[in-house]
Amino acid sequence: MFNNEMNVALHKAAPEQLKEKPDQDNLGFGQHFTDHIFVMDWNREIGWHDARIKPYGDFVLDPAAMVFHYGQAIFEGLKAYCGKDGKLLLFRPKDNLERLNKSALRMCMPRIPVDNVLQSLKALVYLDRDWVPKNEGATLYLRPTMIASEPALGLRPSNQYTFFIISSPVGAYYAQGFEPVTIYVEDHYVRAVPGGVGEAKTAGNYAASVKALMEANEKNCSQVLWLDATERKYIEEVGTSNIFFVINDELVTPPLSGTILPGITRDSVLQLAKDWNMKTVERPITIDEVIETNNDGSLKEIFGTGTAAVISPIGELHYKDQIITINNKQTGEVSKRFFDELQALQRGYREDPHKWLVSVG
Ligand SMILES: Cc1ncc(COP(=O)(O)O)c(C=O)c1O
Repeated sequence: MFNNEMNVALHKAAPEQLKEKPDQDNLGFGQHFTDHIFVMDWNREIGWHDARIKPYGDFVLDPAAMVFHYGQAIFEGLKAYCGKDGKLLLFRPKDNLERLNKSALRMCMPRIPVDNVLQSLKALVYLDRDWVPKNEGATLYLRPTMIASEPALGLRPSNQYTFFIISSPVGAYYAQGFEPVTIYVEDHYVRAVPGGVGEAKTAGNYAASVKALMEANEKNCSQVLWLDATERKYIEEVGTSNIFFVINDELVTPPLSGTILPGITRDSVLQLAKDWNMKTVERPITIDEVIETNNDGSLKEIFGTGTAAVISPIGELHYKDQIITINNKQTGEVSKRFFDELQALQRGYREDPHKWLVSVG
């Protein structure tokens, strides 16, 4: 049980267990995993216990583990950056862990002790520090995850959970340059429904979205833009990103209505825009308004925001039988400004007035 202190047992990988590091120029995303993992267990009697950092390796799970049957699984995604003067930096890590706790609440899973887990996350990154890529744009992606591990059938909350953090060196998202993407506006499948679990980062949301993604890919679109489930009219989010529109000189983004993920990059963009005295509004926006404002020239840019890509400019929307070209398929200056600012901030090359950076080690 953890009170203020969490005792984390450290079992370092033996020299012969250390893996060969992958080619830094060909990392891709989520293909390689570091030498260590953080794990802790929970049960209803004693709460969180047995926190440990140990060599990365397989789990043994009973085939009846409840996660396999009823899908109680939540996760997070954040990055460690090799920044200015070789410093290892995390960007708003507490926000990720607090969001995990919100997902836990929705999914009837236990809360994690945020400060203790942040210390463990830092210890894990520090131990595997040689895995943090140094190439421009490359990062160490961190994946905190919680699963229901009790072996039992019958629908109810599990009485046992396992929480773990794995780390994966990932390449620059824009290896080919900062190019606008083509997006399929999905008017058949939906991602989330009012009263559902859309605002939780739970595995089932992603499983449910794969079919639409595959069909969009078949149409040469890289991602899906989700519309609301009730009217197929209001814009929600795009793939694993939130979405922003620049209409005249105003930044517009859909509100956190319960069906979209409250993105940390979304929040950072809104804060930066306020710092820059840019007008921002969180309000419902329909696909028809996007088409109309694009036709009359007041829609200047559309971009997605998320940990993986930071900022992802959108150049083309495919909606029913229309192809809607945005900003001449060029990256707009607002998208570029947010991208440059966030990249520089995350690596410690800018002032950090909001205390978003946490250094490791
Ligand atoms: C569905 C969804 N929306 C939005 C986001 C963007 O969130 P963040 O900026 O915290 O990465 C993500 C990524 O985590 C996501 O999976």
